Order: sequence, then C-alpha cells, then structure tokens
Amino acid sequence: MEVLVCGGAGYIGSHAVAALLEQGHSVIVFDSLEKGKRAAVLPPAQLVVGDLRSPAEIGKVFADHKIDAVLHFAAYSLVGQSVETPAEYYRNNVTGTQNLLDAMRDAGVLRIVFSSTAAVYGEPEHIPITEEQKTEPTSPYGESKLAVEKMLKWYDRAYGIKYIALRYFNVAGAHPGGKIGEDHNPETHLIPIVLGAALGKTDGIKIFGGDYDTKDGSCVRDYIHVMDLIDAHILALNKLHEAGAASQTYNLGYGRGFSNLEIVQAAKKITEVDIKVEMAPRRPGDPSVLIASPEKAIRELGFSPRYDSLEAIISSAWKFHKTHPNGLEGNP
Ligand code: UFG
Repeated sequence: MEVLVCGGAGYIGSHAVAALLEQGHSVIVFDSLEKGKRAAVLPPAQLVVGDLRSPAEIGKVFADHKIDAVLHFAAYSLVGQSVETPAEYYRNNVTGTQNLLDAMRDAGVLRIVFSSTAAVYGEPEHIPITEEQKTEPTSPYGESKLAVEKMLKWYDRAYGIKYIALRYFNVAGAHPGGKIGEDHNPETHLIPIVLGAALGKTDGIKIFGGDYDTKDGSCVRDYIHVMDLIDAHILALNKLHEAGAASQTYNLGYGRGFSNLEIVQAAKKITEVDIKVEMAPRRPGDPSVLIASPEKAIRELGFSPRYDSLEAIISSAWKFHKTHPNGLEGNP
C-alpha cells in the first residue's frame, strides 16, 4: 500500500513509518517540521514538508501520489499549552484535520487512522476507562481531538470516509533499533524527563503532587510502549481494508497503572543513577488516575501487546536517550 503519514517526523509518527516500511509498504510523510525532525524520517520514506493548515499544500500531496490510506499523527499535543493558546490548537488540530479530510474526500481516499487521546475523557468516571464513558475534556487539547472524532463521524456519513480513532493513554519507549525515540523540545513527559535527569541534563526531577488518593500519593498512568501502540495502528489499517469495514474508536493502553514514584524507582534501577526527586505542588489539570480498558481493542482489533512491561518501556527509551543525549539532530 501507499500510505500517507501526516506528522511522520514526530515521535509516534516516526515509529509508524518504521513499522510500515518493515512491512513493505510505501510511505509518504507529510510534516511541517515545526515539531518533527527530518532525521526521524527513516529512508526510503519520502518526506514532503508542508502544513495541514494550508489546503493547497495537503491537496498537492493527493494530486502527486496515489494514496491508499492515511495515518494522521500531526497535532499540537500539550495539555497545559493548549489552555494558554486555544486558537492555535483549534487551528492546527481541528482546521488542519478538516483540510486533510477535505483533500481525502476530493481525491477519493476513504481510509484514515486518527490519533486521539485519553484527554477526551477528562476526569474519568470509572477506572478502567471504557470507550463508552462520558467525554468531557478539561483542556482545549482534549476538546480539539474530540471535535475531530465528531467531524470524522459526519464525514463518514456524508462522504464515506471510514476511520479508526485510537485514544492513546501514556505513550513511551522507543524503537528497539535505537535510531528513533522521543525527542520533544521542550520535554514535558515524565519518562524522558526522568531519563534526562539520569543523563545529568538537569539536577533532578520534580514530582507534581504527592497528595493524590493513590497507592503512594502520586498520579497513576497507563504507560503503553510505542511499538505496541504502532502495532495497533497497523491492525487498524488492515481492518479498514476489510470488506464492509465500519468506523470505530478504541482505547490504547494496557489496563494497568504505575505511579509517578514507581516510574522514578524503575528508572533508577535501569539507569543505575540515583535520580534526585523533589516533591512539588500538583500540576493543574492532572487527573489522579488514568487507566485504559483495552478490552475492545483486544477483542475487535486483535490488539496483542508484545512489550507490556515497565522494564521494556524504560530500557528502550534509555537506550535511545543514552545514544542521543542532544536529541535526534544533536542540537548544541
Ligand atoms: N510529571 C511529573 N513531573 C514532570 C513531568 C510529569 O510529576 O516533570 C507527572 C505529571 O504531573 C503526571 C505524570 O507525570 O502526573 C504523567 O505526565 P506526562 O506529562 O508524562 O503525561 P500526561 O499524563 O499529562 O499526558 C498524557 C498524554 C497527553 C494526554 C494526557 C491526558 O501525553 O497527550 O495524558 O491527560 F492528553
């Protein structure tokens, strides 16, 4: 298949590109490189630099290539930042996706796997979180992803675009080959921050909140290895090619949680560095516990995790960070 990967130069998108190439697909990456890195796009994937906010730029990709399906990772994804700049989040995540869907419709490309998020749920009603729970995002980021899920529903009904929306929980880890991994600037996610401290990039780390109603007072998250997350995308892509395929939404997590302090303990063991920890006030907007129910994905998609261990997640990330202490492009 010829697959278009929007945001394929980013952390998760680049792992998808690697998996698609390994499976013999032909890959076009469309990325603005605002956040993505040229070095993350493994050959022979072809990079087209462009912005989804430009209908002409994304339209040209469909004119130039015969695309069979789209994986769409391109978005702004920081919860806190989205509260400060909702206009940018709506424009990039919602308008940008609408431009993509319009271009798909015009070109007759009718299959898309969309990166959604646990942030669509807001503060969960029950743990583990099933797909039927109420969606009440507490940030413009979550709202922007939910708006796209709804747009997809109507574009399916009117134009026949079939979609699978995947609601990610906490994605971490890196490709076992060690060539690509998580490289954000600024970095806000716990595991890369902890590993950055182990590398001596910072003095230590702050844990936001020690007074939650959890096993040790720190927040609990469902960490999923990026390789398993991408396996689910490939399953979704194949499912969309089955006869009579229907649009669907699935959670992607493992159905278990680790506290922030457990993450630090595991990282200390793997890195053999005594990472300094300081307890700090809660970070606004953090739900105390987020754990997925992955049952629907297991049942319907055939999701079958291969890397479900904190050790596998953190050690693969550590391998990447140790070999790329200044990120993928070795910024000074
Ligand atoms: N944390 C710290 N110290 C840090 C960084 C993070 O204690 O320096 C804590 C956070 O407060 C949180 C946990 O580590 O309790 C995980 O935080 P991350 O920023 O790594 O991830 P989030 O759970 O905030 O974010 C994830 C996804 C988002 C999604 C969000 C939904 O990455 O895309 O869940 O709430 F929107």
